[in-house]
Amino acid sequence: MDFQHIIVTPGIKPHIALVQLNRPKELNALCLALMQELVSAIEALDQDEDIRCIVLTGNQRAFAAGADIKEMAGKGSIDMLKVDQFSNWERIKRCKTPIIAAVSGFALGGGCELSMLCDMIVASETAKFGQPEIKIGVMPGAGGTQRLTRAIGKARAMEMVLTGAFISAKEAYAAGLVNKVVPAELYLDAAFELAQSVAAMPPIAAQLAKESVLAAFNTSLDEGLVFERKNFYALFSTEDQKEGMKAFVEKRKPEWQGK
Ligand code: HXC
Repeated sequence: MDFQHIIVTPGIKPHIALVQLNRPKELNALCLALMQELVSAIEALDQDEDIRCIVLTGNQRAFAAGADIKEMAGKGSIDMLKVDQFSNWERIKRCKTPIIAAVSGFALGGGCELSMLCDMIVASETAKFGQPEIKIGVMPGAGGTQRLTRAIGKARAMEMVLTGAFISAKEAYAAGLVNKVVPAELYLDAAFELAQSVAAMPPIAAQLAKESVLAAFNTSLDEGLVFERKNFYALFSTEDQKEGMKAFVEKRKPEWQGK
């Protein structure tokens, strides 16, 4: 896959793809062209049956410092509406394959929102999360008031959104935003390790489990339980369910077919 603003390596480890944001001079600011490429890459990887987990990263200094302010600065409301950049975010949201964000340095504005669009976050101890949009006259637009609030609660989300203050990786961990914090040189390895644990699971079960956990954000408990139950029943149509339970009974390691 050949892109200008991202580097995509399918199969960087067995069943794992790496997508690296690659606008280092701009701290990986999420210009429209980058987001377009990111959507194309994620959708292609989601269609690739060999890929069971995607790791999304930036570089040591920045995961992403937000949407590209220089690109947005001169725009009016109708320009923004016409560009409809959030349809790309919706398409990433529909990715069935689990995505892990490996975050080092700045994850700000759209960068913080992009990490939260992923299913899990592994952070370097250098990571800084923030929604500083208010400092440039706007507010979060890609989930910063919604996913952040659901992840860390009203008090902390409100403070970050209203003051633009950053939180450290340790604070993000304590607040429940990130899965783990590791020394700077290990963040990508730690993300791969987590990705390998996901990729070692039967992929259809992983996809339906991801879908079910995400449904918890959109449903009442009763609706969510019905949704979960339907996915649970559906898995009994897979060969991997037969294999998984048979392997347990036979006291051996299962061999997943992804069917
Ligand atoms: C465009 C950006 C950028 C951004 C950094 N740069 N962030 N360009 N959009 N979001 C560019 C700088 O202009 C500069 O380029 C280069 O990256 C290095 O940044 P510096 O500011 O020189 O680095 P530093 O002093 O270390 O400060 C780092 C920083 C700061 C704290 C991350 O750059 C910063 O505050 N950035 C903006 C963060 C932000 O407000 N994000 C929210 C954006 S709005 P030049 O060429 O000038 O040297 C948003 C809305 C999302 O995300 C809506 C949904 C998509």
